[in-house]
Amino acid sequence: MRKPVLEFQDVSFSYGGKKPILDHLNVTVYEREFVTIIGASGSGKSTLFRLITGLETEEHGRIRINSEQPKNRHGRTGYMPQQDLLMPWRTVLENAAVPLELAGVSKKESSIRILPLLNEFGLNGAEHKYPSELSGGMKQRVSFLRSILTGSNILLLDEPFSALDAITRLSMQEWLLDQWEKREKSILFITHDVNEALFLSDRIFVFQDTPVRTLQEVVVPLGRPRSLRDLNDPAVMELKDKLIDQLRGGVKRL
Ligand SMILES: Nc1ncnc2c1ncn2[C@@H]1O[C@H](COP(=O)(O)OP(=O)(O)O)[C@@H](O)[C@H]1O
Ligand SMILES: [Mg+2]
Repeated sequence: MRKPVLEFQDVSFSYGGKKPILDHLNVTVYEREFVTIIGASGSGKSTLFRLITGLETEEHGRIRINSEQPKNRHGRTGYMPQQDLLMPWRTVLENAAVPLELAGVSKKESSIRILPLLNEFGLNGAEHKYPSELSGGMKQRVSFLRSILTGSNILLLDEPFSALDAITRLSMQEWLLDQWEKREKSILFITHDVNEALFLSDRIFVFQDTPVRTLQEVVVPLGRPRSLRDLNDPAVMELKDKLIDQLRGGVKRL
């Protein structure tokens, strides 16, 4: 049996009692799964992550992480928010070190742990650079490294590649799949891009109407390892059209 790492049980949420965003929602994500969430802007995708990280609190129901219901969810997951949150006054090394710093690891020890990883993340030689000196792809890799260094088995990535040019984006997708397989994490990934969702995921959740009551779930009919060419598979192309229609339907109703 696959182990659940994240469970929403009957969860409801609204901002300040106003417009309901989630309405008695049930969701389970399993260990080492790659799940993508797609949906129209404003449908509540980022809110789902804010609930998981404990930045917001559910009004009803339970959110379980690794089969526990922690009182404080801060730091239980590796979170990469939608805006690039690298601190401009900190170097690559200092930005990546934030979760270790919060865990009380010394500066020296954290450098010893981070420096070998920079190589693997294509950031060798960049340790003393500032975010303004990095390309978009490099900044995203620093953010990703920071989320990995939380040590959590669950990573939440909110539209991490949306600001990248098309070619960088494709390389980052391949790179992310490599990292995901190597590090044995469960990843929840938000995107607007149906191709990206199909290439990366085991399952895709579609956020359609707010409030979200049930998530439409799609299992991607592709094995692993995958290549971008696999997206030309007829079953995948058909699925892609279906997903785009669904997303359009959601937008029309707004
Ligand atoms: N801090 C907040 N306070 C009040 N309303 C919010 C807040 N954050 C988001 N919202 C509203 O909640 C809805 C869902 O937002 P969000 O989860 O960011 O959507 P998505 O990530 O799918 O684009 C939107 O209508 C948005 O305006
Ligand atoms: Mg969002």
